[in-house]
Amino acid sequence: MSNDHVALVTGYTGESGKALLKELIKHPQYKKIILVGRRHVDYSENKYKEKTEQRQVDFDKIDDYLDAFRGADIHFCCLGTTKGKAGAEGFRRVDFDYIVGAARLAKQAGCRHFHLLSSQGADAHSLFLYTQVKGQTETALTQMSFDRLSIYRPAFLMVDREENRPFERFAQTVIRNTVQRVAPELITTPIEVLARAMCYNTFTTNQSGVEVLNNHAIFRLAGQQQSSE
Ligand SMILES: NC(=O)c1ccc[n+]([C@@H]2O[C@H](COP(=O)([O-])OP(=O)(O)OC[C@H]3O[C@@H](n4cnc5c(N)ncnc54)[C@H](OP(=O)(O)O)[C@@H]3O)[C@@H](O)[C@H]2O)c1
Repeated sequence: MSNDHVALVTGYTGESGKALLKELIKHPQYKKIILVGRRHVDYSENKYKEKTEQRQVDFDKIDDYLDAFRGADIHFCCLGTTKGKAGAEGFRRVDFDYIVGAARLAKQAGCRHFHLLSSQGADAHSLFLYTQVKGQTETALTQMSFDRLSIYRPAFLMVDREENRPFERFAQTVIRNTVQRVAPELITTPIEVLARAMCYNTFTTNQSGVEVLNNHAIFRLAGQQQSSE
C-alpha cells in the first residue's frame, strides 16, 4: 500500500464527514487531509491539528477557488442537505450544483480517485426529487472520467446527530427496535460502517473506472477493513 496519499474532504463538518475524518486521521496511508468547506472548525486534538489543513470556500463562487482543491490525489465528497432544511431549490443547489462544481475543480486540480457519498435509490429518472437529484449527480460525475470514481449508496444512516431532526430520530428508534435487529444491512447503515468502507476502499484494488457500492458492498468493505487491522 502506498502511504503518501493526500485526501481532500468536502462536507467534513457533517455527520458522515466527521465519521470519515475520524477514520482517515487514524490511517498512516493518508499523510495529510485537506478539508474544504464553508466554515472553520477549531480542533482541540493534536492529531487533527497535525494532519489536517482547512480551506474555506464559497460554494456559490466555486470556480474562484481552484487553488483550494490543489494538492490532493483522493477526494471524499460528503456534501448534502435536505429539502426540509433548504427547500427544493436549495437541495438541488447543494446536492447537485455544489457537488458537481467541487468534482469539476477536483478533476482540474489532479484528483485521481473521487469518492461520492450518494444514496440508496439514486436514479436520475426517479419521480422523487431526492433520488432523482442523487442520480443526476452520479451521472454528471460519471461523465467527468476520473481515473476512479467510487459511488456509495448507503441506506438510512444511523447516527446520533448533533442537529435536531425529530423525524430522523423517531425513525431511528423504530428501526433500531425492529428491522435492525433482524436484518441490519436491509435498510440501515451505521455511520461508522460507512466511514470505514470509504476510508478503506482507496486501498482495495487497483481498478479504474466507475464502481457503485450498494449497502451490502459497504458492509463487506467495512468488515474487510476491520479484519485487516
Ligand atoms: N441521512 C441519511 O439517512 C442519508 C442516507 C443516505 C445518503 N445520505 C447522503 O449522505 C450525505 C451526507 O449526509 P449527512 O447526514 O452526513 O449530512 P449532514 O450531516 O447534513 O452534513 C452535510 C455537509 O454538507 C455541508 N453543507 C450543507 N449545506 C451546505 C451549503 N449550503 N453550503 C456549504 N456546505 C453545505 C454541511 O456543512 P455545514 O456543517 O457548514 O452545514 C456539512 O458539511 C448527503 O448527501 C445525504 O443525502 C444521507
